[in-house]
Amino acid sequence: LKATLVVDKSFVIAEVDKRIYGSFIEHLGRAVYGGIYEPGHPTAGALGFRDDVKSLVKELNVPIIRYPGGNFVSGYNWEDGVGPVEQRPRRLELAWRTVEPNEVGTNEFMNWAREAGSEVMMAVNLGTRGVDAARNLLEYCNHPGGTYWSDLRRSHGVEQAHKIKTWCLGNEMDGPWQIGQKTAVEYGRLAYETGKAMRLVDPDIELVSCGSSSSAMPTFPEWEAVTLDHTYDVADYVSLHQYYGNRDNDSANFLARSMDLEHFIKTVTATCDYIKAKKRSKKTMYLSFDEWNVWYHSNESDTKIDPWTIGPPQLEDHYNFEDALLVGSMLITFLRHADRVKMACLAQLVNVIAPIMTEAGGAAWKQTIFYPYLHASKYGRGVSLQPIVNSPKYDAQDYTDVPYLDSAIVHNEEQGELTIFAVNRHLEEGLHLKADIRGFEGYTLLEHIVLKHDDLKAVNTPAEQRVQPVQAAGTVCKDGYVDTLLSKASWNVIRLK
Ligand code: AHR
Repeated sequence: LKATLVVDKSFVIAEVDKRIYGSFIEHLGRAVYGGIYEPGHPTAGALGFRDDVKSLVKELNVPIIRYPGGNFVSGYNWEDGVGPVEQRPRRLELAWRTVEPNEVGTNEFMNWAREAGSEVMMAVNLGTRGVDAARNLLEYCNHPGGTYWSDLRRSHGVEQAHKIKTWCLGNEMDGPWQIGQKTAVEYGRLAYETGKAMRLVDPDIELVSCGSSSSAMPTFPEWEAVTLDHTYDVADYVSLHQYYGNRDNDSANFLARSMDLEHFIKTVTATCDYIKAKKRSKKTMYLSFDEWNVWYHSNESDTKIDPWTIGPPQLEDHYNFEDALLVGSMLITFLRHADRVKMACLAQLVNVIAPIMTEAGGAAWKQTIFYPYLHASKYGRGVSLQPIVNSPKYDAQDYTDVPYLDSAIVHNEEQGELTIFAVNRHLEEGLHLKADIRGFEGYTLLEHIVLKHDDLKAVNTPAEQRVQPVQAAGTVCKDGYVDTLLSKASWNVIRLK
C-alpha cells in the first residue's frame, strides 16, 4: 500500500493559534476534588493542589483551560466560590447530581492555572442567571479596584486583577439536559445583551457564542444561523462540541469519524460566513472547538453512581489504543483548519474523560490519549501547511472514500523545524509513504516517533504504560524526499530540521 504527499513553504493554511491545544477542567466527578485538588496527598502544596498532577499538565504545555463548566456552569453561583472557604455554602449541584463543597472557586483555580502555565477561558452562567451575574463576575475578576466587586476581590486577598481575556457566553444552551435550556432566539438575545454589558465592563475581552452541542443535534445548523444573527457583532468565536465513540466495535468506521469532524467544521464556517454576508459585515467569525474527545466507555457505569456525593468517579473513560488514534486524527483536522479554528479544548484534562488520571493518595498517570495530545502541543506550533495527499481509500459503514493516510504539516520557522503528523488508518497493513519536501532544502530527519500496538483495545494502567511512543526505525530523508513505512494503525510524528 502506497501514499504520497507534497508539501511546500508556500502552501500556507495559517499560523497555528497555540490555543488549539487547550483543555478543560469542570467541577464534575474527580476533575477538581480528587483530581487537581487533593489536600493530604503527599504531593499537595499548602493550598491542597497536587504537584504531580500539575507537572503532567505542564508537560502537556496547555495554553488555555476552560473553567468551571460545562453543564456545571449553568447552575453555578460564582459568589459561592469566593471569600473565606469556611463560610462557603455546600450546594446541590444539579447538572451532575453531586454535592459541591465550593472549596475550590475562581481565585483558587486562577492561582492553580497560573502555576500550571495556562490561561483560563472562563464560562458564565446563562442557564439560571444572566447579564447581572456575568458583568459582576467580570468586574470581580478584571477590574483593577475602587468598585464594589473589584474591592471584594482585593478583600479576598487578590490584589491584582486576573485579567481573563476569553469568556464563554454559557454552555450548550441548545441541549435539553442543560439547566435553563433556551431556544435559539432566547439564547441569541440573552447572549448578545450579556456580551454587550461585559464589553462595557472590559472592552479587551474576547467572547465565545454558544454553538451546537454536537453535529447530531436536530437544531444544527439552524441554531448557529439564528443565534449568530443576534450575537455576530458582539462575539469573536462560535463554539463547537463533539465527542465520538466506538459503540458498535467497528474500528474502521470509528477511525473515519474525523471525516464527520471536518464536515462539522466546514458547515459551521459556512454558516458563519452566511451571517457575515447577510450583515454586510467585515468581521470574520472564528471557531472555538471548546469540547472534543472520545467519550463513551464510562456511559454505562455512570448510570450506577449514587447522587449527592463529593467528587464521585464520573465520566472516567479508560482509553485504549484506537482512541489515541482518533484523538490524533482530530488534532490533525484542527491543524488543517487552522485558518478558522483558533481555540480547541480537549475535554477534559484530569480524571473526567481525561489524558491524566489520579489514584487517591497515589500516583498520577498517563492514558493512551495523552501522547498524541502531547506531541501536537509540543511540535505542532508554527505555520500549518496544506499537504497535497495521494492515498488509497476505503469505504466504512458511515463514510465513503476515507483516505488511509490522514496528515497535517507544521513548519516552525523560528526553530527551523518541519513536522509531519500522520495517522495510518489501515488496520492490517503498513502504508509506504513518500513525502516530497524538496522546498525545504537541507532538512534532515530528527526523529520519527510512533504510537503503535498490536491490540487496538490495549490500555494503560497506573502500573503499566502498555501504550507509549517509541522511535520508528527505517525512515530515511534523502534528496528532498522522506521515505517511510507507517505501521498499520499508527500515529506518527516525523520531525525534520
Ligand atoms: O465534558 C463533559 C460534558 O459534556 C460537559 O459538561 C458538557 O458541556 C458536555 O455535554
